[in-house]
Amino acid sequence: AVSQEFTANLPKAELHLHIEGTLEPELKLKLAQRNHIDIGQDTIEEVQKTYDYDDLASFLSVYYPAMEVLQTEEDFYDLGMAYLKRAAANHVRHVEIFFDPQAHTSRGVAFETVINGLHRAVVDGRALNVDAALIMCFLRDFSKESARQTLAEALPYKDKFIGIGLDSDEHNNPPLKFARQYEDAAAAGLHLTAHCDIDQKDSIEHIRQALEIMGVERLDHGTNIVEDPDLVQFAAKNNIGMTSCPLSNGYVSPEMKGEEVLELLKQGVKVSIHSDDPAYFGGYIGDNYYAIADRYDLTKDQVVQLAKNSFETSWISDEKKAIYL
Ligand code: HPA
Ligand code: ZN
Repeated sequence: AVSQEFTANLPKAELHLHIEGTLEPELKLKLAQRNHIDIGQDTIEEVQKTYDYDDLASFLSVYYPAMEVLQTEEDFYDLGMAYLKRAAANHVRHVEIFFDPQAHTSRGVAFETVINGLHRAVVDGRALNVDAALIMCFLRDFSKESARQTLAEALPYKDKFIGIGLDSDEHNNPPLKFARQYEDAAAAGLHLTAHCDIDQKDSIEHIRQALEIMGVERLDHGTNIVEDPDLVQFAAKNNIGMTSCPLSNGYVSPEMKGEEVLELLKQGVKVSIHSDDPAYFGGYIGDNYYAIADRYDLTKDQVVQLAKNSFETSWISDEKKAIYL
């Protein structure tokens, strides 16, 4: 068995982390006060009580309204720095941070407010020994036209983010809906990833589209791929990263999906462990490593392999990668 201390101290790359999902009740209350917004709760305990969900849709219906407290560049900076301090404490050496611009522009916050605040945190994170970068996600339940506009707005800032992703409600929103944006982003030199959530209807077809047609380099969640041996082989052969989030899985499904992770390790797929929305799912990356290691009795070698996979499928330079592999 592997100790909590071992998983905590292991150097890690965090590749599946929504910055909006790091909004802790304490910071939410502080920002609400600073921006004179009445969120309906006055204490950490009261905010915590609203964090109640049992599937992706019910989670998202708590998650998006919580973002109203994020208004100014300073707010996004504070959110970013609060996370990066946690990352440093979790021995995260490299993090690729998802952000959802449409969750903010749709309520009147400017794109530049979001990206400038987060980017400033990324730069200041270096003083904490955390190498950070940003990934812009499209909300897949918004229209194609909204994604097109968002990418057009983002491209002038493309030195401030390294890739694109796809998140929010997957039901009836297949990856191919955004084929054009993925093509344009790749042409602009950006990296590509996409959520293929666990236990979704059409999950295998969505994975197939993302891998075979759109050329994504990683799948976020995606461990349902074990149902299709041909796709597993494709993923192994093409070094596709698979970012599994045990505590998040445990919230939106009856289990953490550890069997799927173990099967993928066995098949040589570069699966790794991450935290998704840690303020909402009860733990940062160290807790996620420990949860899966403890529940499925992983060996030290398996845990180390998961951490190596995180660096190998990250989008850092080969020189930096070599430090960790
Ligand atoms: N899936 C879809 N959308 C999300 C997630 C997720 O895991 N986390 C934050 N937005
Ligand atoms: Zn996610």
